[in-house]
Amino acid sequence: MELPFAESYKIKMVETIRKSSRAERESWIKEAKYNLFNLRSDQVFVDLLTDSGTGAMSDRQWSEMMLGDESYAGASSYYKMKNAISEITGFPYFLPTHQGRAAENVLFSAMVKAGDKVPGNAHFDTTKGHIEFRKATAIDCTIDEAYDTTLDHPFKGNIDLAKLESTLRAYPASQIPMIIITITCNTSGGQPVSMQNMREVKAMADKYGIKVIFDAARFAENAYFIKTREKGYEDTTIREIVREMFSYGDGMTMSSKKDAIVNMGGFIGLRDPELFRQASVFNIMFEGYITYGGMSGRDMNALAQGLYDGTEFDYLETRINQVALLGKLLHEGGVPVQYPFGGHAIFVDAKRFLPHLPREQYIAQTLALEFYIEGGVRGVEIGTIMADRDPVTREDRYPGLEMVRFAIPRRVYSDNHMRYVAATILNVFARRNTIKTGYRIVAEAPILRHFTVALEKI
Ligand code: F0G
Repeated sequence: MELPFAESYKIKMVETIRKSSRAERESWIKEAKYNLFNLRSDQVFVDLLTDSGTGAMSDRQWSEMMLGDESYAGASSYYKMKNAISEITGFPYFLPTHQGRAAENVLFSAMVKAGDKVPGNAHFDTTKGHIEFRKATAIDCTIDEAYDTTLDHPFKGNIDLAKLESTLRAYPASQIPMIIITITCNTSGGQPVSMQNMREVKAMADKYGIKVIFDAARFAENAYFIKTREKGYEDTTIREIVREMFSYGDGMTMSSKKDAIVNMGGFIGLRDPELFRQASVFNIMFEGYITYGGMSGRDMNALAQGLYDGTEFDYLETRINQVALLGKLLHEGGVPVQYPFGGHAIFVDAKRFLPHLPREQYIAQTLALEFYIEGGVRGVEIGTIMADRDPVTREDRYPGLEMVRFAIPRRVYSDNHMRYVAATILNVFARRNTIKTGYRIVAEAPILRHFTVALEKI
């Protein structure tokens, strides 16, 4: 008999979680103003709100925590992190930050000014927020295939070179501070970017004299997809692929809460000493001195170890297989999901799930709430609420896709939890025609409104 696949780790510590009744959940979610971010975590059974900072650290990471050096300047933990970053990514300069959006804040303070245009592949919401906050514009150049969830394409995170070139032609280089390549592309469904695409984007960027910056939160998952999907990389190691990927960039911002498998942390990696010098000024202002930047020594140690853990093939195979198991169970049950499955999450296509609901009633949010009420499973809306209002017209922006994302924390849940989640979603799918109305907004913030929005049932 061929031996079946099994996880590449065993469990050393567990945390109890509790089921709830449907009546409890109905009352809790009403109290939470129909915003899933307002729930207490003990009101959730399987929490797939995010894969960010929710992973389980390894024994090697925990042992590194004990060796943390909490010196203000020049801590050994800083040098451990520096060595790991230069070995894994190849970037010789780095700045620690407390998380990914802090890295964006620091780097964009040095690079982005009012009126600038920042092309990229479906910028993440905090990235876009930091661009728009500076009165600049993010221009989405993702390939059109990404927005058809039924289409099978191995690299739905790719940048459309024709769209990119028309942007680079339309504005002077002085107005385009960088091209951002998000790996994997969260917004389009955790979808990877091919090595060939990165190479071509870099060649075009060089032609127009523009820098390439990676938003690298899930760079290792991207490398796994290159190894398993892109011709010529079958026999290349994950670490070799990662080094080649980053060779096409001038810098990176990193949310270490994803592929470095820590609960908190981030960094900026850079090649140019002058840009490093400029960004250092903002790092000291916003984050902390350049050898700790908002992180404690023990967390820098765990992060350094996490970069090694996270770029091991066996770990990545276990992780991606678990995400694919959830995807497969839904796909087989007829639930419309982004296909092929992403690296960190399964994205349910809400417009195809609830085609009868008007978009003004927030289709994806309505569906995310139904999943919570059905089984105590928390996903997140990636749709109109998250897309915010247009900064100029203040009208709702309707994105191409309305999705509910189920992001899987790293090394946390078992495959049985995936089966439970799938059953929850399939139950809602079976009664989808009874979901006749959605929600309206009663209070919202001017930017990144999804975190605090209050809703009521129509
Ligand atoms: N870039 C990408 C692609 C992200 O997915 C995130 C965060 C960030 C930047 C910002 O990093 O949270 O450390 O400040 N994504 C989380 C998510 C929040 O749920 O997808 P951060």
